[in-house]
Amino acid sequence: MKRLEGKTALITGAARGIGLAFAQRYTAEGARVAIADIDIDRAQEAAAGVGGVAIEMDVSCTDSIAAGVAQAVQELGQIDILINNAAIFTAAPIVEIAPDDFHKVFDINVAGTLFTLQAVARHMIERGIKGRIINMASQAGRRGEPLVAVYCASKAAVISLTQSAGLNLIRHGINVNAIAPGVVDGEHWDGVDAFFARYEGKPPGQKKREVGEAVPYGRMGVAEDLTGMAVFLASDEADYIVAQCYNVDGGQWMS
Ligand SMILES: NC(=O)c1ccc[n+]([C@@H]2O[C@H](COP(=O)([O-])OP(=O)(O)OC[C@H]3O[C@@H](n4cnc5c(N)ncnc54)[C@H](O)[C@@H]3O)[C@@H](O)[C@H]2O)c1
Repeated sequence: MKRLEGKTALITGAARGIGLAFAQRYTAEGARVAIADIDIDRAQEAAAGVGGVAIEMDVSCTDSIAAGVAQAVQELGQIDILINNAAIFTAAPIVEIAPDDFHKVFDINVAGTLFTLQAVARHMIERGIKGRIINMASQAGRRGEPLVAVYCASKAAVISLTQSAGLNLIRHGINVNAIAPGVVDGEHWDGVDAFFARYEGKPPGQKKREVGEAVPYGRMGVAEDLTGMAVFLASDEADYIVAQCYNVDGGQWMS
């Protein structure tokens, strides 16, 4: 049985990585998906692969969010599920953090999550849609790291926003929850590895190997490890789950 038959989903940052895996799995479960990304070429390629819709959207810009959400509503009819997945990573020792870098990360990871959620929640409330909103947090939001202050703080903010929005929107029948992945191989982690190569003097690839070995499950995650939770949280089975953040990380974090 397809678990999301007849549903529609807007997934931000879905041109690659975890968001793309969500789009593929949601499509396999019967949903129609809109792939919203700042990289429109890859979004189009991804959308063609799943028979979905590509939307150019910069989640750090509220005008772009408004236009993207309007386009998704027009092309899909309505939005039943939002996955706030777009994010960027940065790393630096505390004494080297640049204000511009801080603002960019918070504009995308935090303001982007809040204002995309807001735009879609307004649409859901207006149409009486008992929708689902899933925010992508991270184990980085569970505790700080010496070189990753800004990204960790941004993901802690995503967990907090999930709690507040979850409590506020459930009165409209909209469930807001989050997923906290651990370390997931892909282009994102290639970038993380490069940061650690720079700041810890490790040869390329070494940090990735180290973090993979440290996962209790025995390896780094892959994007497909996250899709089961994303389907579950969007399904009817998750109806009584409100304002939670689930670790899907091979046993790295317990809370
Ligand atoms: N990969 C991991 O190890 C890991 C771990 C924990 C949490 N996460 C979180 O999971 C989510 C997906 O991660 P991923 O590994 O697939 O990342 P990724 O870097 O591979 O993909 C992110 C996507 O977001 C898009 N994007 C960037 N800025 C944007 C903007 N302003 N507007 C719209 N789109 C934008 C990029 O073009 C890209 O397609 C992110 O929220 C990330 O923080 C990832």
